[in-house]
Amino acid sequence: MEKIRILGISGSLRESSTNTIILKNLAKLLPAHVSFDLFGELHLIPPFSPGDLESDSVKSMKEKIGKAAGVIICTPEYAFGVPGTLKNALDWTVSTGEFNEKPVAAISASPLNSGGEKALASLLLTLTALGTSRNEKSSLAIPNVKSKINSDGIVQDDQTVLLLQDQVDNLLKIIGI
Ligand SMILES: Cc1cc2nc3c(=O)[nH]c(=O)nc-3n(C[C@H](O)[C@H](O)[C@H](O)COP(=O)(O)O)c2cc1C
Repeated sequence: MEKIRILGISGSLRESSTNTIILKNLAKLLPAHVSFDLFGELHLIPPFSPGDLESDSVKSMKEKIGKAAGVIICTPEYAFGVPGTLKNALDWTVSTGEFNEKPVAAISASPLNSGGEKALASLLLTLTALGTSRNEKSSLAIPNVKSKINSDGIVQDDQTVLLLQDQVDNLLKIIGI
């Protein structure tokens, strides 16, 4: 039987991104019948231009979102906002509806006390515009993220692990499994 797919999208392109690390830790919390793919082509998505021909990278991204039963986005905050690369990628889906009724969990992680809450609020507005399926538990801001990850890329803070597990459980509940 084919596994249920979850797609993880990190808003950071950095090799050692803490947001990507959070997604990799989330993947380990999924049950065995659920697979996890980390989207790795954010850097290939061209600037959004409505109506223009779509590149293969945009088509591939849309296919991955379309095939996923749910999506988990984990993003940093830059200058109080969502990274342009992530917003740009999401904009490509506005008129084609890949996120419409798609269960989505939205997470921000920051080395600051704020947890990137301004970027998270902005991301949630965009996800509402895209018609995603969420509830009041579908978002999480992780403050002081660097102190919560050890040198092996493992989330070592028990409270954060519990909050990540809540996100997984809530997303699967919205998906209906
Ligand atoms: C130009 C710049 C602007 C930033 N602005 C913010 C900000 O507004 N809020 C915040 O919480 N962190 C800000 N940061 C810090 C990022 O949260 C931090 O670099 C984080 O580790 C990036 O996420 P990543 O580890 O997933 O790449 C900024 C960093 C840079 C380089």
